Amino acid sequence: MEAKVFQDARIVVLDDEQANVDLLLRILELNGYTNVSGYTDPLEFLDGCRNLPPDLALLDVRMPEMSGFQVLERLKAELDDFVYRPVMFITSDDDRETKQQALSSGARDFLSKPVSPAEVRLRVGNLLHTRFLQMELRDHAERLEERVRARTAQLEEARIEILERLALAAEYRDDATGEHTRRVGRESAALARALGGSLDEVDDIRRAAPLHDVGKIALPDRILLKQGPLTEEEMEEVKEHPTVGARILSGSRVPMLLLAEDIALSHHESWDGTGYPQGLKGEEIPLCARIVAVVDVFDSLTHERPYKRAWTEEEALDEIESLAGTKFDPRVVEAFLRLHGRDAPPPDVASDTTSEADNDVKAP
Ligand SMILES: [Fe+2]
Repeated sequence: MEAKVFQDARIVVLDDEQANVDLLLRILELNGYTNVSGYTDPLEFLDGCRNLPPDLALLDVRMPEMSGFQVLERLKAELDDFVYRPVMFITSDDDRETKQQALSSGARDFLSKPVSPAEVRLRVGNLLHTRFLQMELRDHAERLEERVRARTAQLEEARIEILERLALAAEYRDDATGEHTRRVGRESAALARALGGSLDEVDDIRRAAPLHDVGKIALPDRILLKQGPLTEEEMEEVKEHPTVGARILSGSRVPMLLLAEDIALSHHESWDGTGYPQGLKGEEIPLCARIVAVVDVFDSLTHERPYKRAWTEEEALDEIESLAGTKFDPRVVEAFLRLHGRDAPPPDVASDTTSEADNDVKAP
């Protein structure tokens, strides 16, 4: 540690007798300390410490207006980082009890009057050395914490990117461009905004929604690429993709990934409780999943796949509207229709729960 830091250290002395203050200041100055101040009035001393917190304080114990112990208590209360600022008592009460009280009150050391210049030099030097080492350690710990924070954020970003790539890989066999996942993200964000979501929530859903089918990565090609209708057993395998997806996404504390986990797990639940994998009903289904369910079906219907033609927007909106209250949350459907320029409220009871969209297991 640089000797210069020691010499510039701010040292304050409080003693009700001016002669004692002068003596200590002189000893300190003779030892090269350049930033020393002396006080005989405790209140002025405390003011001085408040304005410019000291690196080291030397306090007389016995003073008429306020004892050194009381001054120390005020210092502790007023300086946020008191713990790093050493205090040394100077006392003529050379008995054990006073020394013990001095140390247990938070002082680091004490000097006995009459003070010896050599002792002052050694004890002041030791205390300052400890203070500056502690400061270095504190700064080092803060820098380390900052690096850990930055590294953790980088790791989470990398994890999110890997998951996005997984979602693309899962979809690749259906849509090599990856546009479906992106559109579902964009449209789900717009719908969340229309339903009153905050900007942060909307941004999270924009990034989380594209991961809804990440669990399809586990589906074999013989099912994903099958041109004809699926057998009952194959259907059961398809129905595992929400659970698989949620498992892939689990274990994060990042809000966006927690949301993605909810969406992956529940985007095939139905408002009336007939969906999968848990058969959740109504508001038991997380809102984000109710939103993605509508957007996912609409987007799948309106785009061509190897096994189906693209529906017109009008046909798809009719279908979505007809499923309000059975497959979909009516409030979400209403907002969705409004987003697409339809103001009419959805019917109270949907007409058909086994519609073409519902049977199209590959679509959503
Ligand atoms: Fe799905």
